[in-house]
Amino acid sequence: MSLSTILKYINYQLTACNEHDLHSPFLYNFYMELIKNKYPFSDFKQLQLVRTQLLQNQTHIGITDFGAGSKKLNSNKRRISDISKHGIATQKQAEFIYRLLNAYQPKTIIELGTSLGLTTLYLAKSVPKSTIYTIEGCPNLFQFSYQLFHKQKQKNIHQIQGNFDIEFPKLLQSLESVDFIYIDGNHAYEPTMRYFKTALTKKTPQTIMMFDDINWSNEMQKAWKDIQLNPEVTLSLDFFYFGLVLFRTEHKEKEHVVIKF
Ligand SMILES: C[S@@+](CC[C@H](N)C(=O)[O-])C[C@H]1O[C@@H](n2cnc3c(N)ncnc32)[C@H](O)[C@@H]1O
Repeated sequence: MSLSTILKYINYQLTACNEHDLHSPFLYNFYMELIKNKYPFSDFKQLQLVRTQLLQNQTHIGITDFGAGSKKLNSNKRRISDISKHGIATQKQAEFIYRLLNAYQPKTIIELGTSLGLTTLYLAKSVPKSTIYTIEGCPNLFQFSYQLFHKQKQKNIHQIQGNFDIEFPKLLQSLESVDFIYIDGNHAYEPTMRYFKTALTKKTPQTIMMFDDINWSNEMQKAWKDIQLNPEVTLSLDFFYFGLVLFRTEHKEKEHVVIKF
């Protein structure tokens, strides 16, 4: 973490809102049910077991880098255990996503950046009736996650191999609307803004978009700021490591909230 990011993190810890600061019923319930509530869904045990196995897996895998890369891992050959430690959503974040989707029951979900496929499993298990489209550029990661989904007998995942730049607009064209989009790859300003604007074409008032690593770099901080300011966004929630944007028409006044996570 750079010094400016550390200062930003300290500021986040000092200013983030918890249940005592959230007065609107929507945000208060959101916080209590999805963040404060630690109810363990039965799927969590199995998903945690998969995470432990990935963390113990010392196999090397050749990585084809399509995006802005990793700050912690810079070799083309990476251990599965290292990718699970540094390159995928943490247990806390993945369980939050699961709770969020379980509460909102989206039908069509897109993930940009499958990596090993563990977070895709959280998405898929949280709403078994949904369809998850997940895009990954690296052929070896695509293959690894394919085998993981097969082993877990997870049937509602539709995998796409290729560059987001090409595959994401193509996928959106084939869909009527999208309910949840998790943008977790190619963390630079221009592509993030482009994916956001492309995604806007298929949003509904119920759509939720999630952006990972919003404080990863100055470029990502700028992208997150511009996404918040977009007039179509009615509510943005900053969790420091990731951000959510909503388009609820019930939210008459645009609001931005920094949430304790
Ligand atoms: C941070 S990882 C995704 C982690 C995953 N969502 C999770 O939490 O388990 C980002 C992934 O996006 C892929 N990626 C980055 N840029 C890409 C692009 N332009 N096209 C396709 N894949 C890309 C990388 O290969 C990497 O596997």
